[in-house]
Amino acid sequence: MDYRLDKSFAAEMDQKDPFSEYREQFHIPRNDDGSECIYLCGNSLGLQPQTARQYVNQELEDWAKLAVEGHFKARHPWLHYHEILAGPTARLVGAKLEEVVIMNSLTVNLHLMMVSFYCPTPNRFKILVEANAFPSDRYAATSQIRFHGYNPVDALVELPLRDSEVTHRIEDIEAFIEEEGNSIALILLGGVNYYTGQVFDMHRITEAGHAKGCLVGVDLAHAIGNIELNLHDWEVDFAVWCSYKYLNSGPGGIAGCFVHQKHAEDRTRKRFAGWWGHNKETRFSMPPQFEPIGGAEGWQLSNPPILPLAALRASLELFDQARIEKLRQKSKLLTGYLEFLIDDLGERKVTIITPGAPEDRGCQLSLVVKQNGRDVYQKLVSMGVVCDWREPDVIRVAPAPFYNSFTEIHRFAEILKSLLTAQDL
Ligand SMILES: Cc1ncc(COP(=O)(O)O)c(C=O)c1O
Repeated sequence: MDYRLDKSFAAEMDQKDPFSEYREQFHIPRNDDGSECIYLCGNSLGLQPQTARQYVNQELEDWAKLAVEGHFKARHPWLHYHEILAGPTARLVGAKLEEVVIMNSLTVNLHLMMVSFYCPTPNRFKILVEANAFPSDRYAATSQIRFHGYNPVDALVELPLRDSEVTHRIEDIEAFIEEEGNSIALILLGGVNYYTGQVFDMHRITEAGHAKGCLVGVDLAHAIGNIELNLHDWEVDFAVWCSYKYLNSGPGGIAGCFVHQKHAEDRTRKRFAGWWGHNKETRFSMPPQFEPIGGAEGWQLSNPPILPLAALRASLELFDQARIEKLRQKSKLLTGYLEFLIDDLGERKVTIITPGAPEDRGCQLSLVVKQNGRDVYQKLVSMGVVCDWREPDVIRVAPAPFYNSFTEIHRFAEILKSLLTAQDL
C-alpha cells in the first residue's frame, strides 16, 4: 500500500472502508468537552457494542418475569445459553464446535488446562514460556510447577532472545525446542505477546513441540478477535483466552477455552471436575460418579453466569457478520498506516518494537519514546488519546478495525508529533 502523509489520504481511506459503519455500533468514549476520544486501547478493554445493553436487559427482564423458570423458558433458555456462543467462537479460533467452551476467566482456565496438560515426570518437567510472558501466566505456571513438587528455578524456562533483540525469531524457537524439548513437558506461549505485539507462529511451534513429545498450549488474550486462528488444523493441544479485549465483552467478561478434539474425547485424562462438566443426560439425576461430557464442555465446573454471556453474545454477533478474515485485512492496512506515520517521526525520537511484517503482528504497535516516554504517554492521555503504558518503557497503541478510523490514526500521529517536537525546544 502506498500511504501518504496528508490528512486527505486518511479521509479517502475512511470513505473506501467497508467497515466504517461498524463504528456506529459501538459506544465511543468522550472527553470532558464532549468530543470523541481517540480510543486505541482495545488491546486492554474493547468498546461496548450498542446491542450489549439490550441483550443483558433481556436476561434481566426474563429473570424478573420467570425467575428459576428462565433456565427453560427464557427467550434464550439459560440452561443452553453458553451453547449459542460455541458456533461464533469456534469460527473465530478455527475449531470444531465441540472443541470450544465459554467459561470462567482466563487464568482460571489456564489452571484447569494445566491440571490436564502439564503432566511432569522426573525427566520431562519443564514449562517453556516466551520472554516477557504475561505475569499471570508465569505465576500460574510457577505455582503449577511447585504444586507438582518441582522447582521453578529449573522448571520454568524462558525462551532466550538474541542480544539487543526484543522479539523472538521462529528459527531460534524451533532450534531451542529441538535442543531442549526432551525435558519440556509443556510449551506455553501467548498467541500474540502482550508487550511487543509479536504474533507467534503457532503452527510451526506446535509441530516442533510435538516432534519432541511436548504438549503445546497458547494464551490467546491478545490474539482472539485480532488475528486469524486455526487451532484445530495447527493441532494446538489447548488454548485459553479472555473476551474483554478485542472481543468487547466488558470488564472481566467471561473467558473461553479450546481443547483439541484428540484430547477432548479422552475421558481418562486427569481433570478437575464440577457438575456442569457432567453428562447432560444425567446431570440432574445428581449421580455421585462424575462422567465428563465429551469435548471441551467436559472441563466446565459451574453453571455459567448469564449476564456476561449476554454481553459477549452481542459482540460475537458482530464478528460473525463482519468475519475475522475481512477485519484482519482492514487491520493490516490500519496498523500499516500507523507504522508509516510513526516512522515519519524519526527513529531518533520513537521506535516501534513490534515486528514490521504484517503477518508477525496483530493490530497493536508497541512504541518506545526515546525521551521521557512516561511523560509523553501522560500528555497523550490528557489530549484525549486512550492508549496504555507498560513498564519499563512501552506505549501500546492498538487500532481496532471494528471502530477505529484512518482519520483518528492521522490525528493521533499529529498529536504525538506535536509532543515530540515540543521536547526538542
Ligand atoms: C496475555 C494475558 N494473559 C493473562 C491475562 C490475565 O487475564 P485474567 O485476569 O482475565 O485472568 C491477561 C490480562 O490482561 C493477559 O493479557
